Amino acid sequence: MHAEGASHKPKCPEGPVSILILGASGDLAKRKIIPALFALYCQNLLPEKFQVVGFARSRMSDEEFRGMATENLTCRYAPGNSCGELMEQFLARCFYFQGQYNSPESFRLLRERLLPLEGNEPTNRVFYMAIPPSVFLDVARSLKQAGLVTDGGASPWSRAVIEKPFGSDRSSSDEMVRNMAEVFEENQTYRIDHYLGKEVIQNLLVLRFANLIFDPIWNRAHIENVQISWKEDLSVEGRAGYFDGYGIIRDVIQNHLLQILALIAMEEPVSLHAKDIRDEKVKLLRSIPQVELRHVVVGQYAEGVWKGVRKAGYLEEEGVPKGSVTPTYAAAVLHVANRRWEGVPFLIRAGKGLNDRMTEIRIVFRETPGKLYDDALHEPVRNELVIRVQPDEAIVFRIMNKTPGLEMKLGISELNLRYQAAYRVEIPDAYECLLLDVLEGDESLFIRSDELAAAWDIFTPVLHRLEEERVQPEPYAFGAEGPLAAAGLAGRFGTGWR
Ligand SMILES: NC(=O)c1ccc[n+]([C@@H]2O[C@H](COP(=O)([O-])OP(=O)(O)OC[C@H]3O[C@@H](n4cnc5c(N)ncnc54)[C@H](OP(=O)(O)O)[C@@H]3O)[C@@H](O)[C@H]2O)c1
Repeated sequence: MHAEGASHKPKCPEGPVSILILGASGDLAKRKIIPALFALYCQNLLPEKFQVVGFARSRMSDEEFRGMATENLTCRYAPGNSCGELMEQFLARCFYFQGQYNSPESFRLLRERLLPLEGNEPTNRVFYMAIPPSVFLDVARSLKQAGLVTDGGASPWSRAVIEKPFGSDRSSSDEMVRNMAEVFEENQTYRIDHYLGKEVIQNLLVLRFANLIFDPIWNRAHIENVQISWKEDLSVEGRAGYFDGYGIIRDVIQNHLLQILALIAMEEPVSLHAKDIRDEKVKLLRSIPQVELRHVVVGQYAEGVWKGVRKAGYLEEEGVPKGSVTPTYAAAVLHVANRRWEGVPFLIRAGKGLNDRMTEIRIVFRETPGKLYDDALHEPVRNELVIRVQPDEAIVFRIMNKTPGLEMKLGISELNLRYQAAYRVEIPDAYECLLLDVLEGDESLFIRSDELAAAWDIFTPVLHRLEEERVQPEPYAFGAEGPLAAAGLAGRFGTGWR
């Protein structure tokens, strides 16, 4: 049983909208964007008048595009016979236009096709940049030249959705922000970090600020360390070309894990308004000193056997340059230099080719003082709050408990809130939530430019040093826990990875 609490029901955004997917032939469009739009459609969360228009260089008819779109649509929100009907209705609103990203003429023709679809009525527009960042600017300029983009604050509105990577260090990120601002003002720019759309991550502020119990203990007096882990038991899987130029710190740590850290450590925002939440996140990120090289461990997966199958090492993957020192694993210790967190290490790690697939946050509390139960305890124990982001979303509080029986024996037990068991609802995909926010104009889960700059400031110097000094990553066998040096790093801060 769950007590009903405050609720804010999502509502169908107002006004007609065209959702343009630039790079519509790609993986992201197929796997995430179109299925998320269909999920919103099934829940009556798209405006009455809408169209989805795909744009890319590949040749495709509308029918072929619809065929491609169908591949990943699911009936989660519309089981039974109605699903087929809903799919047909949705696909009838999907169109495809073939063109070149750097050709203003292609975008002029796109406009000619779009206006009749919009019934020549003023229509809001979302431009989803599902393309590599190298073509963002060409596309943005061409959209503007073709008269497809309105100014920030105008009605109908135009909004651009941009996916990471947002540059590869502070200066390239600044340059991208400056360039894109020629076309889209900051309040029209929705920089996606899809982790922020995940259910458990959205719950972090609720957990912290809607429960009195955590408030007095959420600080250096009670928390010994915080651990954030991202593990994948997969290789770079055909993305070696992209990954090798980028590495795990840029791919996962500097964005997803830093965003999680910010939500764990930030102060209470004045309100739930996007500006107030993002102001607090920026303040927190600015309180984190640059990461030092001595507080970073890098690794690279080597050949190994995982689940009985031989797995190639990173250097054997197609597209990886000989002798590459790109890390597929990294662990780092960060500090937050403020009154709440001074002296508390934040240990973060991310790796591919590991022995698990999960994202988890662990708040490790200090040892309970006193000797009352020393005879019944064999080792010091700490309470832990574990927030499992994926898979199998859960919030687990590890407490000391008397093991039932005549003997006074203590052991760790878990108060376990497993989402699957506790809530009989579909957990929405992050993209459903984020796309709805774009349509509603809610920017709170998107990365503001000053937030992006603050996040890059933390990692840019160490990334440059790793590259300039060609720091050799420690090899670890595919399917292992990661490099041995990671345990040593945690040990230097008086703890171990949990
Ligand atoms: N897939 C994911 O889960 C994911 C996750 C996070 C971020 N992202 C980001 O989201 C964007 C799209 O991801 P994606 O996985 O869909 O990418 P993708 O499949 O590699 O590319 C999307 C489309 O862009 C076009 N394209 C590819 N390389 C190009 C190039 N060098 N120059 C011009 N056009 C090119 C291709 O379409 P045409 O050849 O038909 O034009 C392709 O179908 C990227 O910025 C990516 O970094 C993706």
